[in-house]
Amino acid sequence: MRKLITAMAFALVPLTAGAADKPDWAFPVTEKVQPPSRDDGKPKTAPGSNLSLTRAQIDDLFNPPDWRPDLHPPMPDVVAHGRPPNVRACGSCHLPTGNGHDESAYVAGLTPGYFTRQMLDFKSGARKGSGSMTAIGKDITDAEIKAAAEYFASVKPRTWVRVVEADAAPKTYVGPGNKRLVHPDGGTEPIGQRIIVVPEDEDIVLNRDPIKGFVAYVPRGSIAKGEALARTGGDGKTVACGICHGPTLHGLADIPPLAGRMPNHMVRQMFMIQNGDRAGPQSALMAQVVAKLSVEDMLNLAAYAASLEP
Ligand code: HEC
Ligand code: HEC
Repeated sequence: MRKLITAMAFALVPLTAGAADKPDWAFPVTEKVQPPSRDDGKPKTAPGSNLSLTRAQIDDLFNPPDWRPDLHPPMPDVVAHGRPPNVRACGSCHLPTGNGHDESAYVAGLTPGYFTRQMLDFKSGARKGSGSMTAIGKDITDAEIKAAAEYFASVKPRTWVRVVEADAAPKTYVGPGNKRLVHPDGGTEPIGQRIIVVPEDEDIVLNRDPIKGFVAYVPRGSIAKGEALARTGGDGKTVACGICHGPTLHGLADIPPLAGRMPNHMVRQMFMIQNGDRAGPQSALMAQVVAKLSVEDMLNLAAYAASLEP
C-alpha cells in the first residue's frame, strides 16, 4: 500500500505547476545529514574587535553580536534586540549592516517605502517564502517597522558579493540555519545551471560578523546573457529592467535596487513572483516581467545584477 501511494505521489509531481522547476539551489534548507562539526566550543574572537563570544551567544536571535559598531549607525532596539517571543532582532539574520547572508536578504539602502511595503506583505500573507519573516510580520508593530525601515535606509550599501564565472564550484552542504558552506571533504563539482554562494571566510559568516561577504559561482557566460536580457528584454520575452529599477539598476523611487545584491535572493523573488508566492499589490508590476522567464533566464539576470557595484 505504501509503495502504491509513493508511486502515485511521484506520478502527481509533474502535474503540480512550477514544482518540477523549482531551483532548489536558491532555496537552501539545512540538510539532515551533516558533516562532523568543526566547532571547538571555545569563545570566538575577531581581529579588530574586543568581543569574545560563545556560539550560543552569537546565535541568540534576540541579542546578536555587534562586532563592528564602526560600520553602521546606532541601531534602534528592534534591529539590535527585537522583542520576544516573535520579533527576532533584524540584525541577527540581516546583520547590523543590513548586508545579510545567502539565505536571507541584503536590505541595506532599501527605501523606507519599499521596506515597509514588504513588511506589510509578510504581515498579510501576500508574500511567503520565509517562515521567520511571516512570524515577525504577524507581530511587529507599525512603530517597529518604521524604526527598522529608517535604520536600514540609512546604512550605506557596500560591496558584498564577488561573482565568479566557473565550470565547477566547490562541493557544499547546507548547514544549520540554512547556510550553504564548503564541504570539509573539499573537492569541486560541475556547476551546471546553478548559482553556488559560499562565504569568503566561513568563520566570519558563522560568527555573523559583517566584515567580509560572499563569493557566488555562476555558469560561464551567464553574466553576458543576463546583461543582454536585462538591457533589451530579449525581443519581448521580458521587459528591460532599467525602465523600473533605474538605468544602472540602483533602484528608482520605491522600486528596489538590484545591483550588487545577493543573486540567489533575486532568483527566489523572480521564481516566487512567477508562482504566486510573492503577490503583494506592487509585485503585479513584476508579473509580466517574469511570466515567460525560464529558471535559466532568472539565473542569468541575477548573475548579471549581482556582478554590478551596489
Ligand atoms: C531568522 C532570520 C531573520 C530575521 C531575524 C529577520 N529576517 Fe528579514 N528576512 C529573512 C529571510 C530569510 C528573508 C528572505 C525571504 C525571501 O527570500 O523571500 C528576509 C527578507 C526580509 C525583507 C525583504 C527584503 C527584500 O528586498 O525582498 C525585509 C524588508 C526584512 N526581511 C525585514 C526584516 C526586519 C524588519 C527584521 C527585524 C524585525 C527581520 N527582517 C528579521 C530572515 C530574517
Ligand atoms: C514595470 C516595472 C518593472 C520592470 C520592467 C522590472 N521590475 Fe523588478 N520589480 C518591480 C517592482 C515594483 C518590484 C517590487 C515588488 C514588490 O514591492 O513586491 C520589483 C522587484 C524585483 C525583484 C525583487 C527585489 C527584492 O528586493 O526582493 C527582483 C529580483 C526584480 N524585480 C528583478 C527584475 C528584473 C531582473 C527585471 C528585468 C528583467 C525587472 N525586475 C524588471 C518592477 C519592475
